Amino acid sequence: MTTTPNTALKRVLFVCLGNICRSPAAEGIMRSIVEEQGNPDEWIIDSAGTGNYHVGDLPDHRMRIHARRRGLDLTHRCRQVRTEDFDDFDLIIGMDASNIANLRRIAPSPEAEAKIHAMAEYFSPSARYDYVPDPYYEGAEGFELVLDLLQDGCQNLYDQLKQY
Ligand code: 4NP
Repeated sequence: MTTTPNTALKRVLFVCLGNICRSPAAEGIMRSIVEEQGNPDEWIIDSAGTGNYHVGDLPDHRMRIHARRRGLDLTHRCRQVRTEDFDDFDLIIGMDASNIANLRRIAPSPEAEAKIHAMAEYFSPSARYDYVPDPYYEGAEGFELVLDLLQDGCQNLYDQLKQY
């Protein structure tokens, strides 16, 4: 059997500050959408943090519990964003304005910088937020809000990208 290059490959990196709450949740949600609705072979999905405080850790236990209730098992191990990510991914999606400012600072070229997007670009028009709020110092409702926003945004992102 010959293998042909997968020209439809879509490579998406989700980025937040700690890589233990929002971006691993986005990664898990996107992966579940692709598994249920598409072809996982056509996607590379990962997440990373601009900070390095939690490198090697599993996602925050509160996010794992709230995700688990929605059928999502979050097993990502925290890592920091690296310059090579701008080569390895087509879309680099920051959760809030601070994440995006940090990503712009480390983008190695204008072409790399053009890969940076805000998660909120993919929210439905009815969304009540224009960023994904950091739930780290919030209660249960903060985690539920993040999961709701990400479910909506990731579905719209998937619908946009699946045609390519
Ligand atoms: P995240 O949340 O950026 O959504 O992973 C945070 C996690 C940890 C910290 C801040 C935000 N922290 O300061 O340790």
